[in-house]
Amino acid sequence: MNILVTGGAGFIGSHTLIELYKAGHIAVVIDNLSNSHPEALNRVAEIVGSRQQAVSIPFYKVDIRDRDALEKVFSKHHFDACIHFAGLKAVGESVEKPWEYYENNIGGTLTLVDVMRRHGCKNVIFSSSATVYGDPVEIPITENCPKGQCTNPYGWTKSMLEQILMDMQKADSEWTVVLLRYFNPVGAHPSGRIGENPNGIPNNLMPYITQVAVGKRKELGVFGNDYPTPDGTGVRDYIHVCDLANAHVAALQCFSQDFKHSDNRTFIYNVGTGNGYSVLDMVNAFVRVNGVDIPYSIKPRRAGDIATCYCNPSKAKSELGWQAKYGIDDMVRDSWNWQRQNPEGY
Ligand code: NAD
Ligand code: UFG
Repeated sequence: MNILVTGGAGFIGSHTLIELYKAGHIAVVIDNLSNSHPEALNRVAEIVGSRQQAVSIPFYKVDIRDRDALEKVFSKHHFDACIHFAGLKAVGESVEKPWEYYENNIGGTLTLVDVMRRHGCKNVIFSSSATVYGDPVEIPITENCPKGQCTNPYGWTKSMLEQILMDMQKADSEWTVVLLRYFNPVGAHPSGRIGENPNGIPNNLMPYITQVAVGKRKELGVFGNDYPTPDGTGVRDYIHVCDLANAHVAALQCFSQDFKHSDNRTFIYNVGTGNGYSVLDMVNAFVRVNGVDIPYSIKPRRAGDIATCYCNPSKAKSELGWQAKYGIDDMVRDSWNWQRQNPEGY
């Protein structure tokens, strides 16, 4: 398939490009590089290319809010589908700058899907998040779990965009909408050439751990040890980014007319492993597998955090034939391999 990948220079997008090329698809990337580096795309090309055949990935530095620029890309290429990663994703920043988050994520997606439909491309895979479940009413979380109250504007953009895309599909049966609700992506490509490259102080656990390991931060703060979990620290469903990338390739089958005969062509999948690990499980695995010490101290709970969040991923397995292959040891090994080789990122 010919696929438009928005946000393709970012963490999950760059890993997905590799799996798309491996599966024989052609991808064109647009990204405004607000949270990424173009070097990621050079490295993707290096990984998917070979001595016999160099690969260059068509890239446009385009903002999804820029209708004219999008029009130009769509006039130049035919797309069968769009995998839509582009968006701002920092939870704390979204509380400080709600307008910027709604304008970028919602405004940008509205412009994108309008240009898509004008050009007859009505297949989209959208990067949603476990955050739409709020404080989930069931654990493990199935896709039938009701959506909840998000604790920040970032989460609301995901929840609202799900609704917008579902409503568009309901009104126009030519659309097929796939909502992938990611759990906690970590790890990096096993080559160590691409990985997560956060700006400034990392918000998320794994990049914080790797920056402590590489000596950029003194110690990890563990946000709370009084949750109702086995060791008192927060439990999450960490998923290797290469597994997550592969879920997008698997989800492309939703666009075949033979896929599940039904009028409702919105498909929702949890993308996680189904395993819950605590903060200390992750720290201990990192130390054991990589032989690097991670000093930490217990800090107060972080506002908006929930105790436990992991999914039941069986729907993706039964309908898409996708399941996670990498375990916790692979995740901590590959995260460290990337950070060790690229202490300053790209
Ligand atoms: P990322 O920041 O590495 O990638 C997002 C990319 O989108 C970046 O390259 C950024 O430059 C680009 N972008 C942002 N706004 C844009 C705009 N207006 N126009 C064009 N490009 C724009 O983030 P990621 O971790 O790769 O996340 C990808 C998607 O998955 C995001 O939508 C994110 O919200 C979602 N998601 C991420 C996580 C996670 O923990 N990483 C969890 C759930 C969902
Ligand atoms: N944590 C720490 N110290 C840190 C960072 C995190 O103890 O320095 C803890 C958190 O309290 C939590 C766990 O590690 O218990 C995971 O925290 P992350 O920030 O890595 O991830 P979250 O589960 O809070 O959220 C992430 C993304 C969201 C996304 C969600 C579900 O940031 O955007 O996963 O996909 F919605």
